[in-house]
Amino acid sequence: MTDTDPRPAPETQSPMHNIDIDMVDMSFDVIKFAIDRITRTNPPLGFPKREEELETLVGETITPKGIGGEKAFQLFRDVLLKSSISIDHPRHLAFVSGSPTRASIMFDLVTAASSIHGAYWMEGAGGIFAENEAMKWLVKLTGMPTGAFGVFTPGGTEANLSAMVVARESWRSREESNVAARGLVITSDGAHSSVKAMAKVIDADVMYVPTEERFEGSHLSRAISDLSDADRRRLFAVIATAGTTNAGIIDDLDALAAVCEKESVWFHVDAAYGGGALAAPSARHLFKGIGRADSVTIDPHKWLFAPFDCGAIIYKRPELAEAAHSQHSAYLDIFFKPETRGFNPSDFQIQLTRRLRGLPFWFSLAMHGTDRYAQAVERGIELAQIAGRLITAADHVELVREPSLSCVLYRRIGWTADDYANWMFDNHKKGFCLVAPTMWKTNGDAEPVSRFCFINPDTTEKDIADILETMK
Ligand SMILES: Cc1ncc(COP(=O)(O)O)c(C=O)c1O
Repeated sequence: MTDTDPRPAPETQSPMHNIDIDMVDMSFDVIKFAIDRITRTNPPLGFPKREEELETLVGETITPKGIGGEKAFQLFRDVLLKSSISIDHPRHLAFVSGSPTRASIMFDLVTAASSIHGAYWMEGAGGIFAENEAMKWLVKLTGMPTGAFGVFTPGGTEANLSAMVVARESWRSREESNVAARGLVITSDGAHSSVKAMAKVIDADVMYVPTEERFEGSHLSRAISDLSDADRRRLFAVIATAGTTNAGIIDDLDALAAVCEKESVWFHVDAAYGGGALAAPSARHLFKGIGRADSVTIDPHKWLFAPFDCGAIIYKRPELAEAAHSQHSAYLDIFFKPETRGFNPSDFQIQLTRRLRGLPFWFSLAMHGTDRYAQAVERGIELAQIAGRLITAADHVELVREPSLSCVLYRRIGWTADDYANWMFDNHKKGFCLVAPTMWKTNGDAEPVSRFCFINPDTTEKDIADILETMK
């Protein structure tokens, strides 16, 4: 068979796979839309309508004969898109937003158009090679030892899960009695909610060390020495956070690593959000000790400007991940023959069939170079400092704590939780900004506060000043 083999005659082809004028028209519409969208510097913020409203506006779209590409696209563009938030809006400062580079978005289209299966080297060698080039840069940023390597995942949640499975399997393989025991993880109360959720998936318990600020070596030593003998035997991992979601706090990684090494416990660092700052020379020293971790989560779809979804998990000893995750069956054996040998992303995390989600990230990195990434991440840190100065200079707001990485927690003097929520919805409805409240504890007392998290390097000082002005 060659590329010139005659394909089925058009009348016998699947009409959905046929190349006809409708397909050509639809392709132009899609490309035109994509170019228009990525060249906007101030996309509409978007606001979610209620499901009943959308049902009325959109009507039935799944019908036996189809509604046609033009109609479906029009509904998406004119109704559904407006009911979704543009994550890259420069005044979207809630949660941990995203701001994919234009190059990475365009290459996401190329990734989809190329139809490559990203699970096994045999099927996706070229694409996997490119992903791995981007991965080498991430690994280098962590300073983990030679041999450390990783794989792109759908996000930080799956990256944390993949690491927890490897940690749990390593612990179980050490002692016969661990096989039947339920595992225990120690983390701090700054940990992301995915730690608890993924512990549930693997049926493990989580013990939280209460730390309003960073999680330190002394906290961990005390927590371990307070464990009963039975619980100490169940402890299979310690999870530190490098850039807490709420406040951008980086735990004392070096001291935590030392305790884990002494105690022979797996040390995982969740740098899903903060890991991007490893690219920023001004912040690198804050991550001292990250290179000693057994595994590290970094999400390029957060602060490394990749489109959703693109997380990453890196292991100090990838062979342990391979032992825990590699799937084997008669229909997969062919992937492990000498002729097809190579790096198989599915051997290192929980997913089998996968898109090459690291490819848009690779393309943008290759196109722009790492210096521009450093510059764009530095801008997020600078914006947090600018916000800190503006807040300090104003009378109606005050800092709750100094900005950390690109997170700023501040209070509007005299406001209740309802005031913050009403202010957020009001600004959102107007299409002006999205800034969500959170809670912060000082000396054990929790209070509602406002939070900025800067990702988009195109956010301006005026954006921040204008947002603060609406709190007057
Ligand atoms: C520290 C941290 N870990 C994990 C996650 C979960 O990542 P994802 O939403 O990509 O699953 C987040 C998300 O904000 C996070 O900030």
